[in-house]
Amino acid sequence: MGRNSTDRVYLLARDKAESERLDKQHYFFMALLRNQIIHPCIPRDNLVSIADIGTGTGIWLQEVARFLPSPQLDLHGFDISPDQFPPKQGLRISEDSEIKLHVHDARKEFPPEHHGRYDMVHIRLLTAGMRAEDFKTVVKNVRSLLKLNGWIQWEELDTTAFCTDRMPEPAVVTKVRKAAMNILMYMKMSYMAPHQVFDELRAQQFQNVRRKAYNTRGLGYLHDVALRWAINVIRAMIVPAMLTTGEAKDLAEAKEKVEELVAGYQDHCMTALPLVNLFIIVGQI
Ligand SMILES: C[S@@+](CC[C@H](N)C(=O)[O-])C[C@H]1O[C@@H](n2cnc3c(N)ncnc32)[C@H](O)[C@@H]1O
Repeated sequence: MGRNSTDRVYLLARDKAESERLDKQHYFFMALLRNQIIHPCIPRDNLVSIADIGTGTGIWLQEVARFLPSPQLDLHGFDISPDQFPPKQGLRISEDSEIKLHVHDARKEFPPEHHGRYDMVHIRLLTAGMRAEDFKTVVKNVRSLLKLNGWIQWEELDTTAFCTDRMPEPAVVTKVRKAAMNILMYMKMSYMAPHQVFDELRAQQFQNVRRKAYNTRGLGYLHDVALRWAINVIRAMIVPAMLTTGEAKDLAEAKEKVEELVAGYQDHCMTALPLVNLFIIVGQI
């Protein structure tokens, strides 16, 4: 599980397969967001210094560089674990710019040299490593990174990610949603992260706070990739979850139960479109 004493709440693995899953997920999310890596309400022209918190493989930072006009970018990725950081040679984005990666737990204050330094802070799916009670501290810590008028863009999912375009909701979708919700509740994590982010940004006086959900409706060509994404998440999240909660006595039993769930979900999606509701929340200080 890639866990250590400071990182008890992380739900996912940090091995090569998980890094590949994160990178593929990035491209799927870009399709879902209609290729808007930065929300249209954030002006790109003056974006030079950007921090990505919970950066994982650093894929978002590597990609965002391609969409920004400034030739000299100051890009920093922070993560509680370096296990998924790319090799050194993968970090240079141009002759003038490289991505700098730091090991840092977002629940702790950032070092002073990063305070007030960034035009934009980006966060995606950090909930996988936070308890619901951590949101307040994390928002306070990332707020300290921003310059005046700087923007935050935070993308999160809730358990409606597993919903499909079929109503009434079939039993298998409810079962998957509940399995995800159970592990999040057991670990005292948020099962409504996008809404908690939205509320916390407003509570901490961010301006222009907006939230929008993107899903596959009208993008039928994403059916297969959305289904693969959902199945990968079900496997990545619910197998370790069943072991943690004791719902399965060993790995073999957890895998068997999850494969049953996957088979039912897959069957349902022969005729239904997995929606994958991805929420973007933005705000400015
Ligand atoms: C689901 S991955 C998402 C990675 C990346 N943001 C992306 O979208 O490709 C979550 C990442 O958050 C990191 N993380 C978890 N808890 C953290 C914390 N408290 N502080 C900083 N990073 C954390 C994990 O190590 C992991 O790399």
